[in-house]
Amino acid sequence: MLEQNMAEAAAALPPVAEIFNPNSQAYMTDPVPQCLALAERGRLVWYEPWQAWIMTRMEDIMQCWKEEPLSSDFYDWEFAPQRPPADEWSNFERAMIGHSLLADHDHHRLVRRVTAPAFSRNVVDNIQAKIEPEVKKLFDQLGEPETFDYIEEIANHIPFISITRMVGIPEKYWPQIKQVILTFTETWNPTISDEQREAARQDSNRAIDIIKEVIAERRETPEQDDFLSTLLRIESENEGFEEGDIITLILALIGAGADTTLVAQQWSVYALLKNKDQIDKALATPEAFANAFSEINRWGVSSKMGFARYAPRDMEFMGEQLRKGVMVLMMPHLKDHNPEYYENPETFDVERVFDPDVMFGYGPRYCIGAALAKRQLYLTISELYRRFPNVELAEEPERDPGDHNAVVFKRLLLRTNCK
Ligand code: HEM
Repeated sequence: MLEQNMAEAAAALPPVAEIFNPNSQAYMTDPVPQCLALAERGRLVWYEPWQAWIMTRMEDIMQCWKEEPLSSDFYDWEFAPQRPPADEWSNFERAMIGHSLLADHDHHRLVRRVTAPAFSRNVVDNIQAKIEPEVKKLFDQLGEPETFDYIEEIANHIPFISITRMVGIPEKYWPQIKQVILTFTETWNPTISDEQREAARQDSNRAIDIIKEVIAERRETPEQDDFLSTLLRIESENEGFEEGDIITLILALIGAGADTTLVAQQWSVYALLKNKDQIDKALATPEAFANAFSEINRWGVSSKMGFARYAPRDMEFMGEQLRKGVMVLMMPHLKDHNPEYYENPETFDVERVFDPDVMFGYGPRYCIGAALAKRQLYLTISELYRRFPNVELAEEPERDPGDHNAVVFKRLLLRTNCK
């Protein structure tokens, strides 16, 4: 009887696509009502437009992050291009399939375990020392204009600066690598044309040739204090970790570290300028900023999609029957303004306690670049306020509907008030 009533109640509800549409103007202006309404619809909700299930509850997402019952391998997706035979792999396929960080769990864990020293506090300190002068140079070049677009003048340059300096790519290769940093995530973007995806793959194929060249050169030179040298040492000390893993890892840094950084830069500046009383507390120390950044993300709700997983076989999962290859999207951001999770969710409080803090994921696939991401943001945003202590938004920025993954701004015009 109860089941029948629930089924009748569900049938009386409007289709999910009518209450949740991250590409709508309403979502871009205020995503909160749509996120709350979607979470109300159940633990696992079928979303017709994306042919995907959406996982809405935090306890389920945490468990999935921790135990990995679903695949993270894009090639397991039912609509992914065919996995070609090994002897036909291009550079791109060799890197993405052959040695993929995303491939089987055992290999993934090996890669994460042996590469952990490459992301240690020491290494992040060294990288910071290399990035800091470049960030200052960007602001020097900017001078003291009355107004400027933060995205164009500063944010857009940060992923390239930090990835090339972090990895240790010599300057002569920068122009060619720059293109790939801009287009890499397009190689698997389902919302663009086949031609665009193919062009991005060609860019990646060329970039892999360059990375191979850089590795060959580096093998001949004395060890330096960058990521590549650290990885080459790790390679010589660990069986099962090979050059292909190094290439995949560098591509993963480009893929996972470029767009995320851009979105984080925009929202950090915007959120702090909308809540100026919090700026001093947020920038007091790198640790204070790390917490503030979680609040910036919670408050802003910039995600549109979440994190993709794929059913490895036909399976029963959380009470639903999943077909092999179907996408499951985990959406931790649905909780971000839910009063059951956060007291006074509409209040922006950079000292809010996050326990656990899942901003950078959780479990075996916890973000490799978390420490670096927080440090580079702290560095850039601190520099902005040091140069322009009276900076303010020159206008309410218009949202850019073109980004399929996140709510971003067309431009972020700031008034410096320095004259
Ligand atoms: C503010 C910026 C960033 C945020 C919010 C962020 C967030 C995340 C999250 C939530 C995951 C887990 C994804 C999942 O479970 O599917 C992840 C994974 C990852 N992130 Fe980040 N990230 C950021 C910046 C970076 C940067 C700068 C790098 C590299 C330089 C990076 C490298 C990676 C890599 C390689 C993974 C995959 C780890 C694995 O599968 O083992 N991220 N990130």
